Amino acid sequence: MSELNQESRLKLLGLWPRWSLRLEYLPRTAVAEAGSTAEAAAAQPIPVAALAAEVAEPAEDAMLPQTAAPGGSSQSAIADRRMQIMRMDWDELTQTICHCQQCGLAQTRSQAVPGVGDRKAEWLIVGEAPGADEDAQGEPFVGQAGKLLDNMLAAIGLKRGDGVYIANVLKCRPPDNRNPQDIEIAACEPYLTRQIELIRPRIILAVGKFAAQWLLTSDKPVGALRGKIHHFNEIPVIVTYHPAYLLRSPTEKARAWEDLCLAQDALKQSAPSL
Ligand code: URA
Repeated sequence: MSELNQESRLKLLGLWPRWSLRLEYLPRTAVAEAGSTAEAAAAQPIPVAALAAEVAEPAEDAMLPQTAAPGGSSQSAIADRRMQIMRMDWDELTQTICHCQQCGLAQTRSQAVPGVGDRKAEWLIVGEAPGADEDAQGEPFVGQAGKLLDNMLAAIGLKRGDGVYIANVLKCRPPDNRNPQDIEIAACEPYLTRQIELIRPRIILAVGKFAAQWLLTSDKPVGALRGKIHHFNEIPVIVTYHPAYLLRSPTEKARAWEDLCLAQDALKQSAPSL
């Protein structure tokens, strides 16, 4: 893990140098800074008042239930398929995802995006679904949001593919980047579940509402879920904002920095995998 000093970390997150108050008057999160090259908006100075103020959580859609039966299949067919997937090794799982026809997204995708990274990773990053860039390249988080995600990882000494695996709740792009639908989430559910079983990461970072709600079976918004250590099958889960949201709301990067620090703490507390 590469060592970065405070200033370098803050630059990566696009939070440096832009303080007009003396640092001792700022919360710890405000001292974190980002230097995301991801988007011009992220390079705007962060007003100190905005950082200190409570920022309202963006409107969040209702929770998506995970119980819908994909494609009108019978419950036993769904259970059989799920059991088959739970026995797959990496190669079989990846092939199955790439050829999946379980929901309508198979008709609109260019290609499925199974995930990328270290299959023995300590860190698993879970996002929502591929966007246009990911659909074109077959790799998660390669667009503007992905660049910010890479900067966030770099800020805590991590690098895509090196001790880190990145996957999405949905493996195929929803048209026009619309929200994932219940039936799509239900069809894709065994894939991420099996990936988590195979990796057995020591920490999961859920970025955004869909990842957080999927992992925690919750309908709460990100703002209500972040700031504490949750668990998925005994693996600690930390919730943070989606990088695409951070690009639109750069003042929230300070909170995302807090979340990354919490994830590091949770990892230190978690037992090493066997
Ligand atoms: N947003 C996500 O949630 N995942 C990606 O892979 C890209 C953008």
